[in-house]
Amino acid sequence: MSMIVARSLSDLRDVVDLWRGESLSTAVVPTMGALHEGHIRLIAEAKEKAERVMATIFVNPKQFAANEDLSRYPRDEEGDLAKLEDAGCDLAYLPNADEIYPPSFVTTITLGGPAKAGLEDKFRPQFFDGVATVVAKLFIHTAADFAIFGEKDYQQLLVVTQMARDLDLGTEVIGIPTVREDDGLAKSSRNRYLSKHERHQATAIYRTLEQAADKIRAGGDPQVATKAASRSLMTLGFEVDYVTARNAETLAVPTRNDEPLRLLAAARIGKTRLIDNIPV
Ligand code: PAJ
Repeated sequence: MSMIVARSLSDLRDVVDLWRGESLSTAVVPTMGALHEGHIRLIAEAKEKAERVMATIFVNPKQFAANEDLSRYPRDEEGDLAKLEDAGCDLAYLPNADEIYPPSFVTTITLGGPAKAGLEDKFRPQFFDGVATVVAKLFIHTAADFAIFGEKDYQQLLVVTQMARDLDLGTEVIGIPTVREDDGLAKSSRNRYLSKHERHQATAIYRTLEQAADKIRAGGDPQVATKAASRSLMTLGFEVDYVTARNAETLAVPTRNDEPLRLLAAARIGKTRLIDNIPV
């Protein structure tokens, strides 16, 4: 069976209503396209969870700041659709920006908790408002039972989980582990911007996080371990936004020594900003 491509909400609803009529469970994988193995792993997980799988491709203008890379964000619709079809996706939803954000659109969702942890929110102030707005619309449009997100964007995963729960959106958010290159670099559509030298340097982020996690597992102080990680990234030429140990469920600064921890990092190498995170 070939994949359905829906470019409007009404085309999407026709299919979703049909599936509902047959009592089929559904899962959605929201993306901004430029699909790689990380995205495809989310589709595979969606197929495990539900009888029908949708992917959305929408480069969401609301989550890019004026100085960010909206216009140069990679776009490859034909390639993406072929990859989704190969992965066994049932439907691709590619809404128009005008339909998602008509000129009259003024509503935003006010976020708290993990969205205000002082991590991505500190360096990209409009980012999660933009993500939450579009993800809420995509959950409402698709009415999916499940939505699959990557741990690669760990703060985003917690933010959308919290929002879906707080607003009773009816979609259960499921996270899957980060898919990495053989040398440990987290797969990302932004990796293609790295020069050969930067690509080599970039492997230090994951390596440094693992070293810090090892120290903490051996009884070291999380603050000390992440400070050392930050310093070693700076020595390697990174501009570091943060390297930090946080409560894995809330992203709050840990206060006890028996909390589940997550190490999170964001750093720029040249013009490219990379993020990564690992459990301790
Ligand atoms: P995008 O960057 O395209 O990512 C879409 C989904 O793929 C996210 O859930 C992200 O965490 C996941 N992902 C990306 N790289 C991954 C990797 N290496 N391993 C596992 N999962 C990975 O995140 C967004 O788009 C947008 O903010 C979106 C949620 C679509 C809202 O616009």
